[in-house]
Amino acid sequence: MKIFIKTYGCQMNERDSEALAGMLIKRNHRIVPQEDEADVLIFNTCSVREQAERKALGKIMHMKKLKRQNENLIIGVIGCMAQNHGEALFKEVPHIDFVLGTGQLHELPDLVEQIAEERRQVALLANSEAVLTGMSVHDFSTNEASIFGQVAITRGCNRFCAYCIVPYVRGREMSREAADVVAEVQDLAAHGVREVMLLGQNVAAFGLNGILTPPADDVSPFGDLLTQVAQVPGIARVRFTSPYPSYFTSHLIQAIAAEPKICRSIHLPLQSGSNEVLKRMNRQYTNESYLEIVNKLKAAVPGITFSTDIIVGFPGETEADFQATRDLMNIVGFENAFIFKYSPREGTVSAKHEDSVPQEVKEERNQILLADLALRSQKANAALIGQRVEILVEGPSFRNPARWTGKTSTAKSVMFAPMPGVKVGDLLTLTIAKATGMSLFADNIPDLADIN
Ligand code: 5AD
Ligand code: SF4
Repeated sequence: MKIFIKTYGCQMNERDSEALAGMLIKRNHRIVPQEDEADVLIFNTCSVREQAERKALGKIMHMKKLKRQNENLIIGVIGCMAQNHGEALFKEVPHIDFVLGTGQLHELPDLVEQIAEERRQVALLANSEAVLTGMSVHDFSTNEASIFGQVAITRGCNRFCAYCIVPYVRGREMSREAADVVAEVQDLAAHGVREVMLLGQNVAAFGLNGILTPPADDVSPFGDLLTQVAQVPGIARVRFTSPYPSYFTSHLIQAIAAEPKICRSIHLPLQSGSNEVLKRMNRQYTNESYLEIVNKLKAAVPGITFSTDIIVGFPGETEADFQATRDLMNIVGFENAFIFKYSPREGTVSAKHEDSVPQEVKEERNQILLADLALRSQKANAALIGQRVEILVEGPSFRNPARWTGKTSTAKSVMFAPMPGVKVGDLLTLTIAKATGMSLFADNIPDLADIN
């Protein structure tokens, strides 16, 4: 069958869709890029904010038109929104054929084939541990050889932050076996992958059996895994997202410091810089302890940079709370952050409280933080002028194929003029000659003066 997959939401969903595509191709199905040429439409959905659900639902409703034109068309909703709404989705969008939750995603190929034969509505919503090993497939057959690979190392989350729906829709936290992860990375490396991204809702809790209190300071199964993954021949860089701050033990910090292949930009979700708000969010750290982790990392890893997630307009967030967030962001020196406007999610603890911060105030706080970030990244990029940086070569730039692009270990994009003998996947050291807020430009570009 010809199968179209549309993915909403986070990198974990992107990775799940990639694994599912690989599994379907192994069964001799084909992945097609357009919905109107497909026999099966699959929507891999997100529930983290209301807008994400609304967007996917709107799209799925719209598919009724295609179903009218082709009554054999199979439409399935999978992932977080499927888990969240369950069988109620059959009432909300009656023209869909199946609902497949997060706990049984690996059943997708069987389910699609079964529905093609039996033509009835099916919902699979149970939890299963089999999903942990069942989702390790990669698709090397149709993917153009990419130097980037993603590996899910944990699934689910046990933390129950007050605003977050993830623990309800993705279930309890489960870790894969380190040996399985390493084998998957070896397989990726054998197919030309140079940079691997380790994924999970809380990657730093890897191998801790779901405990909520971080381990002793000299322990970090995640740090040990990072070390092993970085040693896989062919792998030049290792990134990860997202780690919960409290799990940064000295052991983890040392593991990062000791291995230069582990990237020098860490995504460390802060959410808020106000201790009152952090407490109500059920985050297990204070602004002081967060900063302590950042400072330890800065001391141990020269040149390290940080990015983060922030929620503005959490119930009861005052102007002073917001200022505390702004101040802490400034002290840490984030150049990159995802800023989210609080969105109440039914079933979570904070949804029981009034969504008290008006939309305009959320928007205003969002804009203030974005402006701060833009200024900081412009300054930090300008400071790199004249410096030598190492990049992983990605190939021709999307916007201007006459230039090539690559990223530093701190995830900054560098444009350069292609050179004989330099290939995609190489590590290359260049001198920065020009900087904008978004990009850096190497000194071998002939028309640097034209870049503004
Ligand atoms: N409202 C707004 N942002 C949210 N996030 C999670 N839940 C919500 C919510 N209800 C954000 C957090 C998290 C990121 C993935 O999404 O910042 O780190
Ligand atoms: Fe959600 Fe908190 Fe778990 Fe992150 S750590 S997925 S914010 S509950």
